Amino acid sequence: MGITILGTGRYLPDYVASNQEYETFLDTSDEWIVTRTGMRERRIALDTPVWKMGELAARQALEAAGVTPDEIDLILCTTVTADYRYPSAACLIQGGLGAGRAFAMDVAAACTGSVYALDLARRYLETGDVDTVLLVSTEALSQATDYTDRGAAILFGDGAAAAVLQKGEGLFASALFSEPDLNRHLYCPLPRQALPFGGGIPAREEKALTFMNGREVYKFAVRVMPAAARAACEKAGIAVEELDLIIPHQANLRIIETAAKALQIPMEKICVNIQKYGNTSSASIMLCLDEVIREGRIAPKDQICLVGFGAGFTYGAVVLEYQNKP
Ligand code: COA
Repeated sequence: MGITILGTGRYLPDYVASNQEYETFLDTSDEWIVTRTGMRERRIALDTPVWKMGELAARQALEAAGVTPDEIDLILCTTVTADYRYPSAACLIQGGLGAGRAFAMDVAAACTGSVYALDLARRYLETGDVDTVLLVSTEALSQATDYTDRGAAILFGDGAAAAVLQKGEGLFASALFSEPDLNRHLYCPLPRQALPFGGGIPAREEKALTFMNGREVYKFAVRVMPAAARAACEKAGIAVEELDLIIPHQANLRIIETAAKALQIPMEKICVNIQKYGNTSSASIMLCLDEVIREGRIAPKDQICLVGFGAGFTYGAVVLEYQNKP
C-alpha cells in the first residue's frame, strides 16, 4: 500500500536574512557562506509562533487538496522548535484549524522528522483507522540558534510546509535509523530553573541553544544519506538509478553533492532550494516536496526518494510512487 499526496502547502516568513546581514554581527563573509554551504538567504520568523506557521502551511495544503479541516482524522506535526513544552504543536495547529474530529501528536526526530512522520502516516492509513492525515513540519530554528557561533549561526532558517495524505496504490518503502552515540556533536538543551529543594539546586549554566560540531555532523551526513537512500530503494525493490527525483534534507549543498556523487545520481534529479531557505530542519524536505509539486517537476507515477538526517542522530529515507489522486 502506498500513499496519495492530495495537496501540499507552505508558509515562509517575510523577513529575508541575507548572507550580508550576517556579516554585520559575525566574523564571516558572503563568499565563505556560499562556498561552504550553498546558502544565500534564509527566512526568519520575527513574531509568528511555530504552530501558527504550521497552521498557515496546513491551510494552503488543505485548499490544494480540496479537503476541509473536519475531514482530517490525524494530525502529525514535526518540529524541534515548539513554542511550548506542552501542549504539542500538533494540538495547537488542530485548534487553529478547527479540525475537531482529528487526534494530534508531535513526532520528534529532529531534521529527519518528516521522513519518520511519512512512515507513521502510511502505517496509520494502512490500518484503516484513519482515512486522512495532515502532516505538518514547522520550524523556527532562529529560536534555537546561537548567533555568536559563526559555524552554526549562518546555517539555520525558519519555515513550514504541510501535506494532506490518504491511502494510495503505488510503491512505498521506508528505512529508518537512529544512532545515539554521536549525540554530543549536536544538541540543544531546554532551560532548567533553579530548584527551591535540597537547599536550593542552581539552574544549569548551559545556554539553551544549539551546540554543533559541524565537521562531525558533516562526516555523519555524507555517510548516512547515501546509505539510507540505498536501504529504502532496496526495500522498495528498485535500483537507485530508477528514481526520478531525490529530495534530500537541505543542510549543506556540499553534503547533498557528495551524497549525489556516492549514489551516482546527476544533480538534475536532486531537489535543492538551500540557497533560498538554508536549513529549516524537519521543514526542509517538506518545503522541497511542495516546491516540486507546485513547479510540476514531478508527475504521477514518478518514483521519488525523500532522505534526511539530523540530531539524535536520526536518519532515514522513504521511497514512494507519487500519486495525487485517490
Ligand atoms: N565564516 C567564516 N569562517 C568560518 C565560519 C563562518 N561562518 N564558520 C567557521 N569558519 C571557519 C572556522 O573557524 C575554521 O577556521 P580555522 O581553519 O581558522 O579554524 C574554518 O572556517 C573551517 O572550519 P570548518 O568547520 O572546517 O568548516 P567546514 O568546511 O567544515 O564548514 C560547516 C563548516 C558547519 C558549514 C560544515 O561543517 C557543515 O555544514 N557541517 C554540517 C552541519 C549540519 O548539517 N548541521 C545540521 C544537521 S541537521
